[in-house]
Amino acid sequence: MIVGILKENNNENRVALNPIGVTTLQKFGVDKVLVEKGAGLKAFIADEAYTDKGATITDPETIIKQADLIVKIHTPEKIVLDKLNGKQVLLGQLAPLGNKAFVQDLLDRNLTAFSLDLIPRTTRAQAMDVLSSMATASGYRAVLLAATHLPSFIPMFMTAAGTIKPAKVLILGAGVAGLQAIATSRKLGAVVEAFDVRAAAKEEVLSLGAKFVEVEGATDDTSAGGYAVEQTEEYKQRQAQLIQEKSKQADIVICTAQIPGRKAPLLVRKETVENMKAGSVIVDLAASTGGNCEVTENGKIITYSGVTIIGDSNLPSGIPTDASQMFSKNVTNFLKLIIKEGQLDLNFEDDIVEGACLTHKGGLKNERVKKMMTS
Ligand code: NAI
Repeated sequence: MIVGILKENNNENRVALNPIGVTTLQKFGVDKVLVEKGAGLKAFIADEAYTDKGATITDPETIIKQADLIVKIHTPEKIVLDKLNGKQVLLGQLAPLGNKAFVQDLLDRNLTAFSLDLIPRTTRAQAMDVLSSMATASGYRAVLLAATHLPSFIPMFMTAAGTIKPAKVLILGAGVAGLQAIATSRKLGAVVEAFDVRAAAKEEVLSLGAKFVEVEGATDDTSAGGYAVEQTEEYKQRQAQLIQEKSKQADIVICTAQIPGRKAPLLVRKETVENMKAGSVIVDLAASTGGNCEVTENGKIITYSGVTIIGDSNLPSGIPTDASQMFSKNVTNFLKLIIKEGQLDLNFEDDIVEGACLTHKGGLKNERVKKMMTS
């Protein structure tokens, strides 16, 4: 069996598999690992680091032609998909929810594709959970990015030159990224408040030493697999009011609220930004799905009403060495389930294999993707 690693596009610094991953694949009985020339360079992994572990550096055409399994973080371009045949398997973080055209493309081409962002959020699947590992990187990066744009300190200082008050950080959405943002802000000495619609988040927020901001009456659907669901208009109004009050006092607002496959909830309205302190900073991790902040521009850093707004949903790319290592580990942990003695062995009785499967033999396996395609 041959595994191929393709280079990501220009906006991405990570690589899907690191040299340690090459060694792991060899242990699984994989005959050859082909790596696109320069694939790891932006994550500070030289081609030689791969060849030292026994991988072969080559061009993308050879990989597309020879590999039985192709690993790439982001969705490959159409030109790559066009060249794949029905026997090859594609693996990545393909973000299919909300991208019907891409899923249809895979179906039309009869391709087998696995997307690691679809795996069930269970304890057994945690070692392959790219959403969690990459959200950890995002939450951490978001706080550091905000700190470098903030015109003041984060910790409290009592010096001969006077006392500096600690910065106030408001975190919207206390999932994996939000919790990491709380932990990082607390380590820097900030006073932190966090908010989430899921009642279960309260305990986690408190355990990290932050205050939980509560809005009564949230819809918490236990059948949503632990994910948040759309809220009522009345709730949204009350929520907007409270967020406005809290944002006015905050120096940093980190927005992480997402609803899988849907537009991100709008939490920080234009008028809220207009009421925020000049010099304060908003980091919007939900930028690519519309943003939690009304004035966010995806992929841009802008200033609006004296507030710096950073719209970036690809923060793991800014910490490429460790983020690649984590992604690579998630990939090999998943491949352990589908490679047996060097051969592909797809056992759809396994809930993780079935859950992660996007398309196979012209059909769909994942329930959320099935629902999206018929809606
Ligand atoms: P996510 O990236 O989908 O969303 C981020 C956060 O935004 C979530 O906590 C969500 O509740 C919150 N949110 C959505 N709409 C909101 C709104 N209108 N206002 C405020 N907050 C809002 O979430 P993530 O980090 O992927 O986690 C999703 C679920 O998966 C959580 O229940 C988490 O605990 C669970 N999980 C379970 C794991 C496991 O057991 N293996 C591993 C990681 C996560």
